[in-house]
Amino acid sequence: MQANELYLKLTQTHLHPSPRVLEVGFGLGVNFRATLERCRERGVYLEYLGYEAFPVSRAVLASVEMPLSAPAQKVWEDLLEGWPAEPHRPFCLEGAWGRLEVRFEDVTQALLPNGWATALYLDPFSPKVNPEPWQPDVLEKLFWAARGGARLATYSVAGAPRRALAAAGFVVSKVPGIGKKAWLVAERPEV
Ligand SMILES: C[S@@+](CC[C@H](N)C(=O)[O-])C[C@H]1O[C@@H](n2cnc3c(N)ncnc32)[C@H](O)[C@@H]1O
Repeated sequence: MQANELYLKLTQTHLHPSPRVLEVGFGLGVNFRATLERCRERGVYLEYLGYEAFPVSRAVLASVEMPLSAPAQKVWEDLLEGWPAEPHRPFCLEGAWGRLEVRFEDVTQALLPNGWATALYLDPFSPKVNPEPWQPDVLEKLFWAARGGARLATYSVAGAPRRALAAAGFVVSKVPGIGKKAWLVAERPEV
């Protein structure tokens, strides 16, 4: 499954003792649920910050089911219960499992935290159809949002964002994906 192989493993979130994930494109919460599930299995506290410019309704979120353990399913049901009908303010959910915040903002306009993330999931639609979040100024903001040693993962190996990630200061590598696809990992070097 792409969420596990691409986002969790390439960012090494599946090993991190106290992961802080920043995601561009919270979407249907698939990556969130996969990350939550692994963190629950390992008993580690998860902090997850998602940016989503075009949030879907609770009904759409609920329609996309995933097999989850009972503790992770409970968190997901709490999310569904609290998901706002008209999202304006950030949505927050917190418990012994960790903390989720979804900011209903266009990431191109958003203020990101500084030096916060241990992992960055860059998961908007493709650079061709959804070019805005792949622009150099956004990728540079992601660099500053990352801690030293943090990794960004994305499914697109398109040349322009790849060069912009390198120009922002990331060490960028293409890695084999599923099937014939390649994926991208970008690491913010330790200072
Ligand atoms: C491929 S989907 C994300 C899937 C999601 N990561 C998941 O696990 O379900 C891409 C998402 O990026 C969001 N998006 C596109 N442009 C954006 C922007 N400028 N700022 C924030 N979110 C954006 C879209 O609304 C869409 O929900």
